[in-house]
Amino acid sequence: MSDRKKTTLPVLFKKVQDEEPITWLTCYDYPTAYLQEQAGIDMILVGDSLGMTMLGYESTLPVTMDDMIRHTQAVRRGAPNVFLVGDMPYMSYQPSIETAIRNAGRFMAEAGCDAIKLEGGAEMADRVRGIVNSGIPAMGHLGLTPQSVSALGGYRVQGRGAAKAKKIMDDAKALEDAGAFAILLEMVPDRLCQLITQRAEDCFIMSLGSGPHAHGQLLIYHDMFGLYPRFKPRMAKVFGNAGEVILNGLSSYVKEVKEKTFPQPENWFGMKDEEFEDLQKILKEEK
Ligand code: KIV
Repeated sequence: MSDRKKTTLPVLFKKVQDEEPITWLTCYDYPTAYLQEQAGIDMILVGDSLGMTMLGYESTLPVTMDDMIRHTQAVRRGAPNVFLVGDMPYMSYQPSIETAIRNAGRFMAEAGCDAIKLEGGAEMADRVRGIVNSGIPAMGHLGLTPQSVSALGGYRVQGRGAAKAKKIMDDAKALEDAGAFAILLEMVPDRLCQLITQRAEDCFIMSLGSGPHAHGQLLIYHDMFGLYPRFKPRMAKVFGNAGEVILNGLSSYVKEVKEKTFPQPENWFGMKDEEFEDLQKILKEEK
């Protein structure tokens, strides 16, 4: 395990004050969490995107609280010192403030999260306030909000027009006033993200495909490493093609087993000659 210190909210706000960008990635499993902690990532999001990246659904909507808790627990075991954000899945907070508080509480009590994230603007401000008043740090999520992809008409940039941009600014203010410690802006234009970042007073702003002016950046881990076969969003820079490396390795394995070049002696276990001779004697006596 790494000997890094625990990343807390004051540590994150100090970075904002020092204009040091915050690093944030999605993660859904123990070994990847271990590597992300070693690499010095500040924050991890166990996103409900796991429905697509890990479980193979076509959207995030089928993901349940139990799915989220199981994956978040594994991530926490791999990254004990990262600031861990649990993503509230579809219908875990929309029905009522009480539902929102209870499910946010599960992330904290059962999975060791440091905070939760939920999607939506002014209409979800009462959920954010309720969660924050229960002592749980809450983050907002505006712009492209995948749980509303049907209402938004697809996975597309949000806030390109002035009126929609102003609505996103008002939503950000409503979430900040409700006590959100941070807001994620997903796929909004860079200058809109810059304006919201400049105006944020009590919260910090994170960007996913919304340009360089936020206080920090988020990427989806599977997009960064070529691990999601269905599509590659433009905002996702590929930092290494692990998908290709793994596919090449798998093809070599298939070839070597078929050609009988795998396994080699270093890949198996033997027994002493005298033990084998004894075994043969035992078998003979049995006949
Ligand atoms: O679920 C997730 O990974 C997310 C990101 C798309 C921001 O919410």
